Amino acid sequence: MADRVYVFDTTLRDGEQSPGATMNLDEKIRMAHQLEALGVDIIEAGFPIASQGDFEAVQAIARAVGDVQVAGLCRAVVKDIDRCWEAIKEAKNPRIHTFLATSEIHMKHKLGKTADEVRAMVRKAVSHARQYTDNVEFSAEDASRSDWDFLVDITQIAIEAGACVVNLPDTVGYAQPFEYYDMIKYVMDNVKNMDKAMISVHCHNDLGSAVANSLAAIRAGARQVECTVLGIGERAGNAALEDLVMALNTRHEMYGVETGINTEQLFPSCRRLSQIIGMPIPPNKAIVGANAFAHESGVHQDGVIKNRLTYEIMTPASIGRLSNDIVIGKHSGSHAVRKKAEELGYILSEDQVATLFKAVKDLADKKEQVYDEDVEALILENVYRRRDRFRLVDMSVFSGTGNVPPHAATVMEFGREGEDVEIRRTSEFGEGSIDAVFKSIYSLVRVTPKLESYSVNAVTEGSDALAGVSVRIEDNGVKAVGRANDGDVVRASALAMINALNRLEKAKEEK
Ligand code: KIV
Ligand code: ZN
Repeated sequence: MADRVYVFDTTLRDGEQSPGATMNLDEKIRMAHQLEALGVDIIEAGFPIASQGDFEAVQAIARAVGDVQVAGLCRAVVKDIDRCWEAIKEAKNPRIHTFLATSEIHMKHKLGKTADEVRAMVRKAVSHARQYTDNVEFSAEDASRSDWDFLVDITQIAIEAGACVVNLPDTVGYAQPFEYYDMIKYVMDNVKNMDKAMISVHCHNDLGSAVANSLAAIRAGARQVECTVLGIGERAGNAALEDLVMALNTRHEMYGVETGINTEQLFPSCRRLSQIIGMPIPPNKAIVGANAFAHESGVHQDGVIKNRLTYEIMTPASIGRLSNDIVIGKHSGSHAVRKKAEELGYILSEDQVATLFKAVKDLADKKEQVYDEDVEALILENVYRRRDRFRLVDMSVFSGTGNVPPHAATVMEFGREGEDVEIRRTSEFGEGSIDAVFKSIYSLVRVTPKLESYSVNAVTEGSDALAGVSVRIEDNGVKAVGRANDGDVVRASALAMINALNRLEKAKEEK
């Protein structure tokens, strides 16, 4: 029987910390359900002490999911651990994940602590967490730049205090695979009570080695791997879950381990995350990029026609990428729409199906083929989008190359559900039509944020594809992202900006 490797997904914590990947509560819950369907063993739901919003999100995820373990992150201090427990305690299988840095540079410059003080803090933190649950993980932050004998000591102390998992992260993405292998092996060979706990790894991708390092660590004996869908995460990101799992499966003879992942949910999970955070999957992304299974050169095509195995090491179907995903046309009934939503992992109420059905019909009138990606975008846009406090009513945009500069006339309504609605209208000139639209919106909302990023991508192929727009804005140190999909790129841009401004207002209130 092959060994089991536990997949600890941190998309909703380390992933969500990355610029542009912020999710609201509903989005986090939808992603958590998808992670359950994917079969991850542990969902790290967030960092409860970070803010009230984080606390509520972790608590809501803990209540929403089933048997999957739900971890909350906390620093190795009593008040963080207490707050973490408060957030996760209603999960069926809660886990406290506490961490403290162990490298010389972090201990001296960040913590201002001696090695002995760090030893004492680890013992105290893990013992304190153990009062709440047996399921306690300790992470030695910046382990890959720590002294190996000190790591042995710390691991031993954490296990003595009751940790069932000790994580040795490559926090800054500095390690190289052979070196990380040696480090994990050294710790495992020298910790006296190693039989009482599992070693975990958590690798960042600053030098592009996160997946390779994680695989090397598994070869060395680590049995928990921390990763994120699409590799999102701090700076250059974390190890990509889909890459790791497919490497372990495709090269099973080399690793000899199993995971609990349902690989057919890999592509749907990546697609869902990409839709939620408005970050397109790069075409050359391993496993799930649009080109990952496309054979372009004549020699390759010829080989694949003769025998797929000449150039194909795994099948698109094995990651849940189906080729027959043109689903809905003008003549499809609401039953087919409900079924497609279910196939995509969305269980909808009668009202939600009716809303989606109308949106699909409207799109099918304008667009020749409606793909899975379209249906998912429509679900997010029409079924799940929260009612914003300020909304677009109408707009008219002029874009010319002559003497009249581009301009936009915009009408918006303001007011929460149940409140009186105020209508405001204005028109503005701009450098281009999007600039004019944004300026008119700023003037109506009475805020002029800095536009940090703006991106458009086509949700599917063809000039009639839905446009997915993401914007990131900043005002007085508060940041927000907004996203929208629409058949018209200018309208999608307006909706994304209005979404960002609504989120900005909420973030300011929370602050
Ligand atoms: O990168 C890191 O070290 C972390 C820890 C908190 C596990 O994210
Ligand atoms: Zn990390």
